[in-house]
Amino acid sequence: MAYSASIQVNLGQRSYEVKIGSGLLDRFGEVLAESLAPRRAALITNDEIWSLHGGRLGKSLDGSCIRYQKITVPDGESAKSLPIAEEVYGQLIEAGFERGEPIVAFGGGVVGDLAGFLAATYLRGVPLVHVPTTLLAQIDSSIGGKVAINHPRGKNLIGMFYQPTFVFSDVDVLRTLDLSQLRNGLAEAIKYGFIWENGPLDYIEEHLDAILDADAAVIAPLVRDCSAIKARIVEIDERDRGLRAILNYGHTFGHAIETSSHYAFSHGEAISIGMHFAARLSAKLGMVDESVVQRHDKLLTRAGLPTKASRVNIESVIRAMSVDKKRQGGENLFVLLEGIGRPVVRPVPDDVVIELIVELTGVVH
Ligand code: GLY
Repeated sequence: MAYSASIQVNLGQRSYEVKIGSGLLDRFGEVLAESLAPRRAALITNDEIWSLHGGRLGKSLDGSCIRYQKITVPDGESAKSLPIAEEVYGQLIEAGFERGEPIVAFGGGVVGDLAGFLAATYLRGVPLVHVPTTLLAQIDSSIGGKVAINHPRGKNLIGMFYQPTFVFSDVDVLRTLDLSQLRNGLAEAIKYGFIWENGPLDYIEEHLDAILDADAAVIAPLVRDCSAIKARIVEIDERDRGLRAILNYGHTFGHAIETSSHYAFSHGEAISIGMHFAARLSAKLGMVDESVVQRHDKLLTRAGLPTKASRVNIESVIRAMSVDKKRQGGENLFVLLEGIGRPVVRPVPDDVVIELIVELTGVVH
C-alpha cells in the first residue's frame, strides 16, 4: 500500500485537507469526484509538467468520468502576469466554465499562484484545487491561500488570500525535479527546521542524501511535517498579520540578494544566504551562540546551498531591502533566532546590517 498522510488546515468554513503520499496521482479523479463531484475541471499547467505527469492525471480523471480542459501557461515567473491571466480568462469563458467547476493548479509555485488568482477572481470565485509538483510548492506555496500575479513594478503585488478546497501532494513527482529545483524546496524545509521547535532539522540532517535523491519513503514524511508546520502557522495567522512573518526567516536579506543580483541566485540559494545572514545577525546581537551559526553553515553547505554571496553591492542590497514590505520605523525587520525553533521578528538598524555585510564579504564601500 502506497504511503499516504493527511494534514488538516483548520480555518472554520475554509478548512481543508492536504493529502500527501506516494502513488497519489492515479487517485486524483476519485478524490476530486468525492470532494466536489464536478462534471468538468480546468487544469492549469505548463508543457513540461504535462508531458511528464499529465498522462497519469488525465487517465485518473477519465476513470472518474470527469471531463477536463488543459490550459497551458508559459514556464517561469513571467506567467504570473495580467496579460497571461487575461488570456486564460478568455479560454475559460470560451469553454463556458461555470461556478461549480474547479480550477486545478497542476505545477509548481508559479502555476499555483496564477491558477489560484484565476480561481479567486473568475466568476467571483470558483473552487481551487492544488496539485503541487515541486518540493517548494508542496511544503509552502500550495498551503495557506496566498495567490497573486506580478505587476511590472514588483512581485506578487496583485493578489488575495483564497484557500483551496484541498491540496494533493504526490511525492513521486519530485523524482523528476532536477537537483537545483529540489534544493530550492530543501532551503525552505531547512527554514522550517530552524524556526519551529522540534521541527524537521534533525530529520533533514540525518536523511539529507536520500532527500536529495527524492527518495519517496524519506521525502514523504518531510513533506508531511513541513506541511503540518505551515498549516499550524496559517491556522493562527491566516491573514499574515503576526506569526506568519516567521516564515520570512532568511527572506529579508535573501530577497534583497535575489533582486539586487537580478536573480543570479535562485530563490533557494538566496534564502540559504539569507538564513545564514540572519543566524550571524542573531549571534552578533548576542541572541544565540556560535554553535547555531555553525549548524546553519554545516547543513546548508552539505545541501549544496551557498551561505555567502561573494560580490555584494551594499547600496543596492540596502536599497532593495528598503523597498521591501518588511520595514518598520526606518529599519529593516528581520526574523532572528533566540535559539533553534525560537524565532523573533525585530527591526535592525542599517549600520548593524552593513557592518555584518562588510564582515562577511570584506566589501568596504
Ligand atoms: N510563503 C510564505 C507564506 O505563505 O506566508
